[in-house]
Amino acid sequence: MIAEKQLTPHIGAEIQGLDLNTISLEDIAPALVDALARHHVIFLRDQFIDLEQQKSLTQVFGPLSRLDYVEPLDDEPFVIRVLKEADEGGGTFGGNWHTDFSFVTEPPAGSVLSAIEVPPVGGDTLWISQAAAWDALPDDLKKILQGRDAIHVGKPYGQKWAPSKETRSGDSMKMVRGDPVADQEQRHPAVLKHPVTGRHMLFLNPTYVSRLDGMSEEESTPILDQIQTHTTQPTFCCRFHWTAGTVAIWDNMATQHFAVNDYFGHRRLMYRTTFAGPSPRELAPPTNHHAIDV
Ligand SMILES: [Fe+2]
Repeated sequence: MIAEKQLTPHIGAEIQGLDLNTISLEDIAPALVDALARHHVIFLRDQFIDLEQQKSLTQVFGPLSRLDYVEPLDDEPFVIRVLKEADEGGGTFGGNWHTDFSFVTEPPAGSVLSAIEVPPVGGDTLWISQAAAWDALPDDLKKILQGRDAIHVGKPYGQKWAPSKETRSGDSMKMVRGDPVADQEQRHPAVLKHPVTGRHMLFLNPTYVSRLDGMSEEESTPILDQIQTHTTQPTFCCRFHWTAGTVAIWDNMATQHFAVNDYFGHRRLMYRTTFAGPSPRELAPPTNHHAIDV
Protein backbone atom coordinates (compact mmCIF):
# COMPACT_ATOMS: atom_id res chain seq x y z
CA MET A 1 0.00 0.00 0.00
CA ILE A 2 1.13 3.54 -0.68
CA ALA A 3 -0.17 6.67 1.02
CA GLU A 4 -1.84 9.19 -1.25
CA LYS A 5 -2.71 12.78 -0.47
CA GLN A 6 -4.99 14.19 -3.15
CA LEU A 7 -4.27 17.75 -4.23
CA THR A 8 -7.75 18.37 -5.63
CA PRO A 9 -10.88 16.24 -6.11
CA HIS A 10 -10.25 15.85 -9.85
CA ILE A 11 -6.52 15.74 -10.42
CA GLY A 12 -3.17 15.33 -8.71
CA ALA A 13 -1.91 13.43 -5.68
CA GLU A 14 1.25 13.36 -3.62
CA ILE A 15 2.56 9.87 -2.88
CA GLN A 16 3.90 9.97 0.64
CA GLY A 17 6.10 7.87 2.90
CA LEU A 18 8.00 6.31 0.05
CA ASP A 19 11.76 6.53 -0.56
CA LEU A 20 12.83 5.58 -4.08
CA ASN A 21 16.39 5.15 -2.81
CA THR A 22 15.47 2.22 -0.55
CA ILE A 23 12.22 0.69 -1.81
CA SER A 24 11.98 -2.05 -4.45
CA LEU A 25 10.28 -0.64 -7.54
CA GLU A 26 8.90 -4.07 -8.31
CA ASP A 27 6.97 -4.03 -5.04
CA ILE A 28 5.29 -0.67 -5.62
CA ALA A 29 4.93 -0.66 -9.42
CA PRO A 30 1.27 -1.81 -9.56
CA ALA A 31 0.26 0.76 -6.92
CA LEU A 32 2.05 3.58 -8.76
CA VAL A 33 0.46 2.65 -12.10
CA ASP A 34 -2.94 2.54 -10.42
CA ALA A 35 -2.39 5.90 -8.67
CA LEU A 36 -1.34 7.55 -11.93
CA ALA A 37 -4.40 6.22 -13.75
CA ARG A 38 -6.74 7.60 -11.08
CA HIS A 39 -5.03 10.94 -10.40
CA HIS A 40 -3.47 11.72 -13.85
CA VAL A 41 -0.41 13.29 -12.21
CA ILE A 42 1.45 12.13 -9.10
CA PHE A 43 4.26 13.71 -7.11
CA LEU A 44 6.95 12.25 -4.86
CA ARG A 45 8.88 14.83 -2.86
CA ASP A 46 12.43 14.58 -1.43
CA GLN A 47 13.63 11.73 -3.65
CA PHE A 48 16.89 13.06 -5.16
CA ILE A 49 17.22 10.17 -7.62
CA ASP A 50 19.94 9.81 -10.26
CA LEU A 51 19.33 9.23 -13.97
CA GLU A 52 19.56 5.43 -13.72
CA GLN A 53 16.90 5.45 -11.01
CA GLN A 54 14.78 7.84 -13.06
CA LYS A 55 14.93 5.57 -16.10
CA SER A 56 13.98 2.54 -13.97
CA LEU A 57 11.06 4.46 -12.46
CA THR A 58 9.92 5.55 -15.92
CA GLN A 59 9.83 1.95 -17.13
CA VAL A 60 7.31 1.12 -14.41
CA PHE A 61 4.79 2.94 -16.63
CA GLY A 62 5.94 1.94 -20.11
CA PRO A 63 8.95 1.51 -22.38
CA LEU A 64 11.36 4.45 -22.49
CA SER A 65 10.76 6.57 -25.56
CA ARG A 66 12.67 9.33 -27.30
CA LEU A 67 11.35 12.78 -28.16
CA ASP A 68 11.80 13.80 -31.78
CA TYR A 69 12.06 17.55 -31.21
CA VAL A 70 14.37 17.89 -28.21
CA GLU A 71 18.00 16.79 -28.29
CA PRO A 72 18.78 14.38 -25.45
CA LEU A 73 21.86 14.44 -23.25
CA ASP A 74 25.00 13.38 -25.13
CA ASP A 75 25.34 10.01 -23.42
CA GLU A 76 21.69 9.52 -22.40
CA PRO A 77 19.41 9.15 -25.46
CA PHE A 78 16.29 8.84 -23.29
CA VAL A 79 16.90 11.86 -21.05
CA ILE A 80 16.38 15.52 -21.84
CA ARG A 81 17.46 18.45 -19.74
CA VAL A 82 14.78 21.04 -19.00
CA LEU A 83 16.81 24.12 -18.18
CA LYS A 84 16.29 27.85 -17.98
CA GLU A 85 19.22 29.94 -16.80
CA ALA A 86 18.65 32.83 -14.40
CA ASP A 87 19.42 35.47 -17.05
CA GLU A 88 17.53 33.79 -19.89
CA GLY A 89 14.58 35.83 -21.16
CA GLY A 90 11.87 34.97 -23.67
CA GLY A 91 9.44 32.08 -23.33
CA THR A 92 9.79 28.96 -21.27
CA PHE A 93 9.63 25.32 -22.38
CA GLY A 94 5.98 24.26 -22.08
CA GLY A 95 4.74 27.78 -21.37
CA ASN A 96 1.30 27.31 -22.91
CA TRP A 97 -1.47 24.79 -22.33
CA HIS A 98 -0.47 21.68 -24.21
CA THR A 99 -0.34 17.91 -24.34
CA ASP A 100 3.24 16.88 -25.07
CA PHE A 101 3.94 16.37 -28.78
CA SER A 102 0.31 15.48 -29.57
CA PHE A 103 1.04 16.19 -33.25
CA VAL A 104 3.16 13.06 -33.77
CA THR A 105 1.73 9.66 -34.71
CA GLU A 106 2.42 8.18 -31.30
CA PRO A 107 2.60 10.94 -28.68
CA PRO A 108 4.26 10.12 -25.34
CA ALA A 109 1.97 8.20 -22.97
CA GLY A 110 3.51 10.12 -20.12
CA SER A 111 6.64 11.66 -18.65
CA VAL A 112 8.73 11.71 -15.49
CA LEU A 113 10.27 14.99 -14.41
CA SER A 114 12.86 15.17 -11.64
CA ALA A 115 13.55 18.59 -10.14
CA ILE A 116 17.22 19.35 -9.46
CA GLU A 117 17.27 23.14 -9.01
CA VAL A 118 14.14 25.26 -8.65
CA PRO A 119 13.32 28.92 -7.98
CA PRO A 120 12.42 29.77 -4.37
CA VAL A 121 9.13 31.14 -5.67
CA GLY A 122 7.51 30.71 -9.07
CA GLY A 123 8.22 28.14 -11.77
CA ASP A 124 5.08 26.18 -10.88
CA THR A 125 3.42 23.76 -13.28
CA LEU A 126 -0.34 23.37 -13.76
CA TRP A 127 -2.12 20.26 -15.02
CA ILE A 128 -5.78 19.84 -15.97
CA SER A 129 -7.84 16.65 -16.16
CA GLN A 130 -9.17 16.00 -19.64
CA ALA A 131 -11.40 13.30 -18.09
CA ALA A 132 -13.07 15.68 -15.62
CA ALA A 133 -13.43 18.20 -18.44
CA TRP A 134 -15.16 15.61 -20.65
CA ASP A 135 -17.49 14.51 -17.84
CA ALA A 136 -18.75 18.07 -17.35
CA LEU A 137 -18.81 19.08 -21.01
CA PRO A 138 -22.27 20.23 -22.21
CA ASP A 139 -24.05 17.60 -24.32
CA ASP A 140 -24.11 19.74 -27.48
CA LEU A 141 -20.30 19.90 -27.44
CA LYS A 142 -20.03 16.18 -26.67
CA LYS A 143 -22.17 15.47 -29.72
CA ILE A 144 -19.84 17.52 -31.93
CA LEU A 145 -16.77 15.64 -30.71
CA GLN A 146 -18.14 12.13 -30.56
CA GLY A 147 -16.56 9.96 -33.28
CA ARG A 148 -14.69 12.96 -34.71
CA ASP A 149 -10.98 13.46 -35.28
CA ALA A 150 -9.04 16.61 -34.50
CA ILE A 151 -6.21 17.86 -36.69
CA HIS A 152 -2.87 18.42 -34.89
CA VAL A 153 0.10 20.36 -36.28
CA GLY A 154 3.55 20.79 -34.68
CA LYS A 155 3.67 24.53 -35.32
CA PRO A 156 6.53 25.40 -32.92
CA TYR A 157 8.83 22.90 -34.66
CA GLY A 158 7.97 23.50 -38.31
CA GLN A 159 8.65 26.18 -40.90
CA LYS A 160 5.24 27.67 -41.70
CA TRP A 161 4.42 28.92 -38.21
CA ALA A 162 7.89 29.11 -36.64
CA PRO A 163 7.72 31.08 -33.36
CA SER A 164 9.66 34.31 -32.90
CA LYS A 165 12.78 34.32 -30.74
CA GLU A 166 10.91 36.39 -28.14
CA THR A 167 8.22 33.77 -27.58
CA ARG A 168 10.08 30.50 -27.95
CA SER A 169 12.04 28.79 -25.19
CA GLY A 170 15.64 29.91 -24.72
CA ASP A 171 18.88 28.43 -26.00
CA SER A 172 19.35 26.21 -22.94
CA MET A 173 16.63 23.97 -24.36
CA LYS A 174 18.15 22.03 -27.25
CA MET A 175 15.08 22.13 -29.47
CA VAL A 176 14.96 20.79 -33.01
CA ARG A 177 13.15 23.41 -35.12
CA GLY A 178 12.38 24.11 -38.76
CA ASP A 179 11.29 20.55 -39.60
CA PRO A 180 8.75 20.65 -42.47
CA VAL A 181 7.34 17.30 -41.30
CA ALA A 182 6.04 19.07 -38.17
CA ASP A 183 3.84 21.26 -40.40
CA GLN A 184 1.96 18.24 -41.73
CA GLU A 185 -1.53 17.56 -40.41
CA GLN A 186 -1.91 14.61 -38.02
CA ARG A 187 -5.36 13.21 -37.18
CA HIS A 188 -6.20 11.88 -33.74
CA PRO A 189 -9.57 11.10 -32.14
CA ALA A 190 -10.93 14.12 -30.25
CA VAL A 191 -12.05 11.86 -27.39
CA LEU A 192 -10.14 8.92 -25.92
CA LYS A 193 -10.99 6.11 -23.51
CA HIS A 194 -8.47 5.61 -20.72
CA PRO A 195 -6.80 2.19 -21.00
CA VAL A 196 -6.92 1.53 -17.23
CA THR A 197 -9.96 3.36 -15.86
CA GLY A 198 -12.13 3.29 -19.00
CA ARG A 199 -12.99 6.96 -18.47
CA HIS A 200 -13.61 9.11 -21.51
CA MET A 201 -11.32 12.12 -21.87
CA LEU A 202 -10.82 14.99 -24.27
CA PHE A 203 -7.74 14.80 -26.47
CA LEU A 204 -7.51 18.44 -27.52
CA ASN A 205 -5.05 21.20 -26.72
CA PRO A 206 -4.61 24.73 -28.09
CA THR A 207 -0.87 24.47 -28.84
CA TYR A 208 -1.14 21.73 -31.46
CA VAL A 209 -4.80 21.32 -32.49
CA SER A 210 -5.52 23.50 -35.51
CA ARG A 211 -9.11 22.44 -36.24
CA LEU A 212 -11.72 19.72 -35.97
CA ASP A 213 -11.94 17.27 -38.85
CA GLY A 214 -14.72 18.10 -41.30
CA MET A 215 -14.61 21.81 -40.43
CA SER A 216 -12.55 24.78 -41.55
CA GLU A 217 -10.40 26.62 -39.02
CA GLU A 218 -12.99 29.44 -39.04
CA GLU A 219 -15.77 27.02 -38.16
CA SER A 220 -13.91 25.04 -35.53
CA THR A 221 -11.98 27.81 -33.74
CA PRO A 222 -14.97 29.17 -31.74
CA ILE A 223 -15.90 25.60 -30.74
CA LEU A 224 -12.34 24.72 -29.70
CA ASP A 225 -12.05 28.01 -27.80
CA GLN A 226 -15.27 27.27 -25.93
CA ILE A 227 -14.08 23.76 -25.05
CA GLN A 228 -10.65 25.02 -23.93
CA THR A 229 -12.24 27.69 -21.71
CA HIS A 230 -14.37 24.95 -20.15
CA THR A 231 -11.41 22.56 -19.80
CA THR A 232 -9.07 25.01 -18.08
CA GLN A 233 -11.47 26.22 -15.43
CA PRO A 234 -9.79 25.99 -12.02
CA THR A 235 -12.07 23.15 -10.90
CA PHE A 236 -10.32 20.69 -13.22
CA CYS A 237 -6.82 21.95 -12.48
CA CYS A 238 -4.03 21.47 -9.97
CA ARG A 239 -1.04 23.75 -9.53
CA PHE A 240 2.18 22.34 -8.16
CA HIS A 241 5.06 24.20 -6.53
CA TRP A 242 8.31 22.35 -7.06
CA THR A 243 10.94 21.69 -4.44
CA ALA A 244 14.37 20.23 -5.26
CA GLY A 245 14.21 16.44 -5.21
CA THR A 246 10.58 16.24 -6.32
CA VAL A 247 9.66 13.71 -8.99
CA ALA A 248 6.46 14.24 -10.99
CA ILE A 249 4.86 11.63 -13.24
CA TRP A 250 1.99 12.56 -15.55
CA ASP A 251 -0.37 10.81 -17.91
CA ASN A 252 0.01 12.75 -21.14
CA MET A 253 -3.13 11.35 -22.75
CA ALA A 254 -5.34 12.41 -19.85
CA THR A 255 -4.00 15.91 -19.26
CA GLN A 256 -2.83 19.24 -20.54
CA HIS A 257 -0.16 21.11 -18.63
CA PHE A 258 1.31 24.61 -18.44
CA ALA A 259 4.75 25.70 -17.16
CA VAL A 260 4.49 29.16 -15.61
CA ASN A 261 7.16 31.57 -16.84
CA ASP A 262 7.50 33.82 -13.79
CA TYR A 263 10.95 33.17 -12.36
CA PHE A 264 13.35 35.39 -14.31
CA GLY A 265 16.47 35.82 -12.19
CA HIS A 266 16.46 32.22 -10.98
CA ARG A 267 17.84 29.04 -12.55
CA ARG A 268 15.52 26.07 -13.02
CA LEU A 269 16.91 22.62 -13.89
CA MET A 270 15.04 19.34 -14.27
CA TYR A 271 15.61 16.03 -16.02
CA ARG A 272 12.86 14.49 -18.03
CA THR A 273 12.23 10.98 -19.31
CA THR A 274 9.28 9.78 -21.35
CA PHE A 275 7.38 6.52 -21.66
CA ALA A 276 5.41 5.07 -24.55
CA GLY A 277 1.93 3.55 -24.58
CA PRO A 278 -1.05 2.92 -26.84
CA SER A 279 -1.54 5.38 -29.71
CA PRO A 280 -4.53 7.75 -29.60
CA ARG A 281 -6.15 5.71 -32.37
CA GLU A 282 -5.90 2.59 -30.20
CA LEU A 283 -7.57 4.53 -27.37
CA ALA A 284 -10.52 5.73 -29.45
CA PRO A 285 -13.81 4.73 -27.79
CA PRO A 286 -16.21 2.62 -29.83
CA THR A 287 -18.20 5.03 -31.96
CA ASN A 288 -21.90 5.33 -31.32
CA HIS A 289 -23.54 8.10 -33.28
CA HIS A 290 -26.94 7.63 -31.67
CA ALA A 291 -26.06 8.18 -28.05
CA ILE A 292 -23.63 10.17 -25.96
CA ASP A 293 -21.49 7.73 -24.06
CA VAL A 294 -20.81 9.31 -20.72
FE1 LIG B 1 5.15 19.73 -21.73
